[in-house]
Parts: sequence; C-alpha cells; structure tokens
Amino acid sequence: MEIKQIAVIGAGTMGNGIAQVCATTGYAVTLIDIIPEQIERAVATIHKSVEKLHAKGRLTDEQREAALHNITTAGEVEAAAGADFVIEAVVEREEVKKKVLAQLDTLTRPEVILASNTSSISITALGAVTNRPDRVVGMHFMNPVPLMKLVEIIRGIATSDETTQTTVSLAEKLGKTGVEAQDYPGFISNRILCPMINEAIYALMEGVGTVEAIDTVMKLGMNHPMGPLTLADLIGLDVVLNIMEVLQQGLGDDKYRPCPLLKRMVAAGYLGRKTGRGFYTYG
Ligand code: CAA
Repeated sequence: MEIKQIAVIGAGTMGNGIAQVCATTGYAVTLIDIIPEQIERAVATIHKSVEKLHAKGRLTDEQREAALHNITTAGEVEAAAGADFVIEAVVEREEVKKKVLAQLDTLTRPEVILASNTSSISITALGAVTNRPDRVVGMHFMNPVPLMKLVEIIRGIATSDETTQTTVSLAEKLGKTGVEAQDYPGFISNRILCPMINEAIYALMEGVGTVEAIDTVMKLGMNHPMGPLTLADLIGLDVVLNIMEVLQQGLGDDKYRPCPLLKRMVAAGYLGRKTGRGFYTYG
C-alpha cells in the first residue's frame, strides 16, 4: 500500500516535530490533539522551526510551502480514520497509549501500520491491545525531531518483517536513518543514554564536579554536542526519572536505580526547560 496520508496523534514536542518532517517530505498530515491550545502551540512551533531551517538553507522553498499546506489539524482521534500510516505520540503513560491504540485499531483500515513514538513503553504490550500486533511497531524519534537523524525502530514480539521494513523505509524517506532494536526496556537509545545522565547526576550530588564542570567535561572531552545535564533539561527530568524506573523494574537490576537528587528535583517540579528550571534556569 502506498503511504500518502499520515496521522500523527499528539501535538506535543515530539508530535509537532514528527508532523513537520512528514509534511516537508510531502506527505499529507493530520495532526490530532484533544487539547486545542496544544494544537495552536504546535502550529506556531512548526512555523517557527520551518522559517529558521529555510533561512539557514536547510529547507527549500517547496519544502517550506509543503510544511504550511500539508498539515491539517483535528481535535478527535476519529480524524485518523482515512490515514495510510499512523504515528502515536501522546503522553508517555501506558494506559493512555493503550487506550489510543485500541481506538485506532477500530478506526483505521486493518492493513494500516500503527507506530508508537514511545521512549520506554513495551511495544509488545501496546500491540497486545489491538487485533493487529503484527502491524504495531515502535518509531522512536529523537528531540529535536527536525534536526536529529535517528529513528529507532522497535520490534515487538509479534511485529512482522514487512511492518519493520515499511517503517524503516518511511524513516528513510523522511531523511532519517532507521535503526532496528528489539523490545527490551529502554530499547537501545535509552538503555545507554539515561544511565549516563543518571550517573552525571550522581557525580553532581556527590560533589565530584559542578553542573558546568560535568557538562564541559563531556562536551570538550568526549565531543558530545551537549553536556548530560543540559540534555537532561532538554529531555525533561520527569522523563529521565520515568525511564530509569522502567529500566530498574524491567531489567530487575539495581544498577539502574534513579539518583536521589533526580527524584528530589522532579518532586520539586524542577523538570528542565519546560518548567523554566532544571540543572539550569531558563528565561
Ligand atoms: N527546528 C529548527 N531549529 C532548531 C530546532 C528545531 N526544532 N531546535 C533547535 N534549533 C536551532 C536552535 O534554535 C539554534 O538556532 P540558532 O543557531 O539560530 O540559534 C540551533 O538549532 C542550535 O544550533 P547550535 O549551533 O547550538 O547546535 P547544533 O545545530 O550544532 O545542534 C542540536 C543542535 C542538534 C540540538 C545538538 O545540540 C544536539 O545534537 N544535541 C543533543 C540532542 C540529543 O541528544 N537529542 C536526543 C535526546 S534523547 C531523545 O530524544 C529520546 C528520548 O527518548 C529521551
């Protein structure tokens, strides 16, 4: 089946970035969110990002126009009914994702692939709430989506080869590189990234170095584009904590225990950029 129309469910940071790259590639996109303000923010964010990338010569005039014309928005998941491919990017809560996937399963044609942008929830468990677990797959984009080249493609226990291949090839059409991972806690990306960030927070808590020292060591010493504490602020400290808990519980190993300072900051509401305060403060 040729993919022409893509539905993106959830217009938050990840959803709007995904909608943007699908639209600039030439797909007709339906961006769906039940919160009207979220849609408004998403459209504004997409426009700002597209203008910036166009000004830098990273998007052609045609791609810029495509981003503006190829996206329609909707407030109900029913608007995904005609889609040829669905990417779910709703809030990272298992019960919410399961509910949305079960709804999509009844709404969309049976051959349509349902991809989830989850960063930590089992694709096998999400597939199991549908009647098409062979066509449920993880499509894990990285933040900021328009700039990051990777899409991690996660195979649940029942995901078929055909579904995986179609999803990898869609990622490539979007200008990304698709890398396959099996469905174990944290997949590949967060199995490695979040323990590194957690260790940086332990180093801070134990006074091994300041926030700036820790970030500078990793930037200048290891050529990371951002230090781990800056990156934690970008990802969201609540998200990092949640992923560490998934790793600790799912792998049953206390080497993944979340740092007490991370827990304390989340309890205080210091979640990073999105709340204006994390390891750094934002204007
Ligand atoms: N659209 C357009 N432009 C954007 C943008 C977006 N969505 N986001 C940032 N930019 C722009 C900034 O506004 C800034 O523009 P100016 O230069 O005009 O100020 C520019 O990008 C940043 O440019 P820099 O020169 O500072 O940095 P860069 O271009 O070399 O790289 C970066 C920026 C790609 C974000 C880089 O810092 C980087 O790779 N950081 C690491 C990001 C990362 O690790 N992401 C993965 C997070 S993990 C995840 O997402 C998965 C999970 O499950 C937790």
